[in-house]
Amino acid sequence: MLRTVGSATRMDKVQAPIIPVVGSWIRATPGTISLGQGVVHYGPPQAAVDAVAEALKAASTHEYGDGAGIAPLVAAIRRKLAAENQIDVDRGSRIMVTAGANMAFMHAVLATTSPGDEVILPVPFYFNHEMAADMAGCVVVRVPTDERYQLRLDAIERAMTPRTRMVVTISPNNPSGAVLSEQSLRAVNTLCRERGIYHLADEPYEYFTYGDARHVSPGSFADAAGHTISVYSLSKAYGYAGWRIGYMAYPEALAAAMMKSQDTILINPTIASQVGAAAALGVGRGYCEPYVREMATIRDIVVKELGALGDLARVPAADGAFYVLLRVNTALDPLVLAERLIREHKVAVIPGTAFGMTDGCYFRVAVGALQKATGAEGIGRLVTGLRTILA
Ligand SMILES: Cc1ncc(COP(=O)(O)O)c(C=O)c1O
Repeated sequence: MLRTVGSATRMDKVQAPIIPVVGSWIRATPGTISLGQGVVHYGPPQAAVDAVAEALKAASTHEYGDGAGIAPLVAAIRRKLAAENQIDVDRGSRIMVTAGANMAFMHAVLATTSPGDEVILPVPFYFNHEMAADMAGCVVVRVPTDERYQLRLDAIERAMTPRTRMVVTISPNNPSGAVLSEQSLRAVNTLCRERGIYHLADEPYEYFTYGDARHVSPGSFADAAGHTISVYSLSKAYGYAGWRIGYMAYPEALAAAMMKSQDTILINPTIASQVGAAAALGVGRGYCEPYVREMATIRDIVVKELGALGDLARVPAADGAFYVLLRVNTALDPLVLAERLIREHKVAVIPGTAFGMTDGCYFRVAVGALQKATGAEGIGRLVTGLRTILA
């Protein structure tokens, strides 16, 4: 018997991923409509699929590649960052292509921290951010947001200590859907610069904004280049999740550390995936715009229907991503309630505890995977389910 069996490891304090747990309940209850996982219902542009097929014929597709990414993709990212995010990488940043935004985040944590250092996560956070920081041996410092899930600068500032290495913001936000105000992002970015710590801006939902809400990239602010890590993903915008491509623009002083992490964990992102990603960026953001408009109508239905729950639930308005974070007025454990909603009402949502929401019963409702008819049906089941269980 191995001596390590049963002994403690770094993974013991890391939360178990919630998506597979809810997934197993869904599989046990056929016919469940999932308002759970944060996925979109569409796949990549045909040009990306064709480019991958073509790439399979080239010998270089099957060899190791440059750790930062293949040249055409890095060039396409550079152009996109300049045109859409107002991030000029020539002002002191580097680009790295990764196997999804999650990997970019892990690299960033490993490159900027030592065990025991602190990472500030405004709550609600994206669970994999907490998991990554925990795995790296960092201390996650949770800070509250306001009642509309907007950043609270006072709370962030109070949470900073000499061991703070990074503040993480996600806008548009998973799980709340909040589009963080430009003013608050500027204030956080400035505060981080003044304190000599990194600001990691995770922006996989940059195109998913509704109404008057506008996305802004902290990496575009003056004097941001030296301390800002901007993370992006093709998973949502281009329906490219399975191909695992994300990327980041990061301060060049971190280049050696980032490359150590990339070389050890991945060596290089899958070449065929990168070729497809370059073709997807060639199609551009216009690809997802019809889907974003469709999501806007589904989101309106969801907010209206959930509003009908009255005192049973509170749903702050959210202008971005494809999530709504619902607070249910009950003392029930959200995990228990989530399981009952699946087993008894065939609708799946994700308990807020996974996102650090521990002061009540919260659920994330995801609409990205739905088309209008299923969306309406799913939300109807959720409303009926909550009314019945909480009656
Ligand atoms: C905030 C946030 N960051 C990162 C990711 C992961 O993206 P990727 O598929 O590119 O790893 C997600 C996916 O849901 C997300 O919501």
